[in-house]
Amino acid sequence: MQIFIDSADVEQIKQAIEIGLCDGITTNPTLIAKTGKDNAKAIADICAITDVPVNAETVGISYNEIIEEGSALADIASNVVIKIPMTKGGLRAVAYFADREVMTTVTLIFNLNQALLAAKAGASYIAPFVGRLDDISSEGMEIIQEIAQVYEYYEYPTEIVVASVRSPMHVKQAALAGADAITVPPSLIDKLFAHPLTDRGIEQFLKDAGK
Ligand code: E4P
Repeated sequence: MQIFIDSADVEQIKQAIEIGLCDGITTNPTLIAKTGKDNAKAIADICAITDVPVNAETVGISYNEIIEEGSALADIASNVVIKIPMTKGGLRAVAYFADREVMTTVTLIFNLNQALLAAKAGASYIAPFVGRLDDISSEGMEIIQEIAQVYEYYEYPTEIVVASVRSPMHVKQAALAGADAITVPPSLIDKLFAHPLTDRGIEQFLKDAGK
């Protein structure tokens, strides 16, 4: 399972690259706003340090706006993936970019039917938001299992990037569901390493090594 870093902060991304845990990067308007840069500058700065897929989200609503904005973002670097919200105009734009071999992610996916439409439009990736479903008392991870099953059944090449990930349990459940990738906030990475018995074991070994 690939690990994408859910951040637009170049320093955080560099740290994930250093420990070998950066198979891709996802950004969104909220993460870009935290950098204080405009979208194009923030994406260019990320692409300057890595050639893994970098998701750059469009904010236009209409088909024409998404094409114009997405084309400009795609021109920044060949590893830019245009991240497009799940709307009618958005899926039409996904088909446009697929025809031109530009990678896309359909974002804000909350059910299987949306995932099905995105795959049919030719999306390279989809981003189903499990945490935001959990937030409204739904089982976010259930849709990952459903989508993985249906994509396998119809042999859709679209990759599932589990998004809105909040806990180590989400990471474990995504892997068990057969997700292609998971996008994790940098703060979650440390939690994936941690286990109290590992800490206790290291402490004991160090003590014994000193004898
Ligand atoms: C990434 O693709 C998503 O935009 C992100 O994971 C959303 O996370 P949030 O629901 O914690 O804002």
